Amino acid sequence: MDSLTLIQPDDWHVHFRDGEPLATVVRHTAQRFGRALVMPNLVPPVTAVAEARSYRARIMAAVPDFPDFNPYMSLYLTPRTTAADVLAAAQDPQILGFKLYPAGATTHSEAGVAKLEGIYPILEAMEQCGVALMVHGEVTQAEVDIFDREKAFIDDHLAPITERFPELRITFEHITTREAVAFVRACGPRVAATITAHHLLYNRNALLVGGIRPHFYCLPVLKRERHREALVEAACSGDAKFFLGTDSAPHPHGRKEASCGCAGCYTAYAAIELYATAFDRAGALHRLEQFASISGARFYGLPVNDRTITLRREQVPTPDSFPFGADRLIPLTAGETVAWRLYGSSGDDRPSR
Ligand code: DOR
Ligand code: ZN
Repeated sequence: MDSLTLIQPDDWHVHFRDGEPLATVVRHTAQRFGRALVMPNLVPPVTAVAEARSYRARIMAAVPDFPDFNPYMSLYLTPRTTAADVLAAAQDPQILGFKLYPAGATTHSEAGVAKLEGIYPILEAMEQCGVALMVHGEVTQAEVDIFDREKAFIDDHLAPITERFPELRITFEHITTREAVAFVRACGPRVAATITAHHLLYNRNALLVGGIRPHFYCLPVLKRERHREALVEAACSGDAKFFLGTDSAPHPHGRKEASCGCAGCYTAYAAIELYATAFDRAGALHRLEQFASISGARFYGLPVNDRTITLRREQVPTPDSFPFGADRLIPLTAGETVAWRLYGSSGDDRPSR
């Protein structure tokens, strides 16, 4: 199959940052996706509905030529989040839920939750109001090996939470392990998971063989091949519990190529193209639309998009970098080609980059 037309996909997990970089990164997402779920880990974090509203306005102002792009917002769950915050979120149709970062688990997670039992009353309020919980699922204890932190989080936290709050809608974000796939499958229909393109395409060798490649460093960190295979199987299975969330996470060049480089892979410039590459390699291009355009919308109770996009099999060189305010942003596949090109939506046949 050399040409593929899909219902326009959505990205249910993306980082846009704020200020000048928005001009680059929001455009990449809006060129491809009808909707996005924007993560709230700004500094300071987006914790209240009014902050999310003004952040959303800045995102829209960055892409005046994409008036139909529709970013949904998430709020940052902190130990100070109240039931009133939950109620306010429930009443705003542009807010899909709260993002839970265990404190110290990842980039800009310092404001997150150290003692998860402490937020159980908030989870109860979310369950009652129908507000979703998006979870970064890794424990943070120093004694737990970084490759085992997702599995430990399932056992120590996520399993107890799903048992205690059976009606709470939970998105287990950017899953990376065979154990996470099995856990999500074993849960009821209120628990689903996003899977990134980079975790479908790469294992930990991409990060560590032949030198340390900082642009492949993300959290949860890339895992062994057998885990990547389980993710591909889940994404390509047609199971509506698994859907697209890029976790595209832009950082300035100097923060990535550093003695203590920060976590985040930038993929928004070719996100759906990279997913097409992964599905194609698995012989499952016919399943891409379910994963990218249908399952996530259904999970969040939203209709699928009206438009379509077309992808054609072409070798597209990746730029070495993109402007990022006064700095540069290095794309994940810098120096390589991507095997698909995106053409405009709904019969508009102009190449979009
Ligand atoms: O790699 C990551 N980058 N993982 C996260 O959880 C956060 C993200 C970011 O914000 O840079
Ligand atoms: Zn993320």
